[in-house]
Amino acid sequence: MNILLLGSGGREDALAWRLRQSPSCATLIAAPGNPGIARWAECIAINPSDGAAVVALAQERDVKLVVIGPEAPLVAGVADACRNAGIAVFGPSAAAARLEGSKGFTKELCERARIPTAAFVRARTVDDALAALDRFGLPVVIKDDGLAAGKGVTIAATRAEAEAAVRAAGDTELVIEQFLDGEEVSLFALVDGSHAVVLASAQDHKRVGDGDTGPNTGGMGAYSPAPVLTPELEQRAMNEIVLPTARALAAAGTPFNGVLYAGLMLTADGPQLIEYNVRFGDPECEAIVPRIAGDFAALLYAVATGGEFSAPELSPQAAMTVVVAASGYPGDPARGGPIDGIATAERIDGVRVFHAGTAAHSSGALLAAGGRVLAVTALGDTLADARDRAYQAVDAIDFPDGFCRRDIGWRQLERDHAA
Ligand code: AMP
Ligand code: GLY
Repeated sequence: MNILLLGSGGREDALAWRLRQSPSCATLIAAPGNPGIARWAECIAINPSDGAAVVALAQERDVKLVVIGPEAPLVAGVADACRNAGIAVFGPSAAAARLEGSKGFTKELCERARIPTAAFVRARTVDDALAALDRFGLPVVIKDDGLAAGKGVTIAATRAEAEAAVRAAGDTELVIEQFLDGEEVSLFALVDGSHAVVLASAQDHKRVGDGDTGPNTGGMGAYSPAPVLTPELEQRAMNEIVLPTARALAAAGTPFNGVLYAGLMLTADGPQLIEYNVRFGDPECEAIVPRIAGDFAALLYAVATGGEFSAPELSPQAAMTVVVAASGYPGDPARGGPIDGIATAERIDGVRVFHAGTAAHSSGALLAAGGRVLAVTALGDTLADARDRAYQAVDAIDFPDGFCRRDIGWRQLERDHAA
């Protein structure tokens, strides 16, 4: 079948690579794609959030499956546009994408379905939000309701900090919630209506600096699996969080279809939901996808079309992704810096270098064109092996404007070392 993949980041490069290897994939098209994705797909420059343009391209190219990478087209209803045109699509409707698009929507769904999550209050004005602060201890968490690319969250340690965050937000929709203490882990599930299976676990690293310091980013590195989510905890998270969510959406007439990314806090009382995303994580996807065995395109097609699917077989190897970002990120990143040595890095066993933010110059040179530039991924028999290969690959790349965290996987590597 012909497949159209929407998006242009490292996540989509990993998806494109795996789709291209799938026996059931005939032609792979990406929109808009990037120079890494162009290794596996024909890239066509349309706006992936323009539903009419996506449908027209899919029809023109006899596409049987549309795979949507990022959240923006989902929230904009591109999956609905495809389904309305009779095209199979892996990705939720705009109604189901509210799980990511509106934190208040998700919190209210959790309350109705008794899903474990932090106690919360929705506030629409500064006065309401200030009054809500009285109901929580410290620290307290203050979030913008809508999509904020991880930047709309304040964890306030003092009342003064909390009030400042509320005043800075102004009269907008906020969610004020209880602080959850524990270790964060991500669980990815494939969902079609009320059917959900585990895809994989992973752990992201959101802060820009080593030791989890500095500002939040989209994610500086990830590894999969995340053994801190034991089989028992994973089962609890499916039974207590993911499945009730899928059932609640199906019962409301807005069934979820695609990959549901549950951001969990492993608290003393068990897993609690921090947030949902309605797509693969980036860079978690780059660490998960190389572990998936079998025909990946056929799996996504089965999910998209209400076919039968079960949890895919995963490689017993561990995977690590190290993000190489352009200096300045997550502020204003340096653009246009030359990148060399990717081919050398990919000669290391088990290594793949996915492109997150690159541009091809007319001279043939590869240039940085974004905050997160490369997602360097390695498989290994242990996480330490994967880490060693990933950093060997990072060091083989010549990108003077780039930087990366040197401690991806530190929590698990310390645990492995102690064991
Ligand atoms: P979110 O955008 O909801 O994922 O929040 C971004 C980050 O803020 C999360 O990854 C957590 O590290 C942190 N966070 C969000 N909500 C809470 C909470 N209730 N308790 C503790 N940390 C939180
Ligand atoms: N890595 C976090 C995210 O994709 O939202």
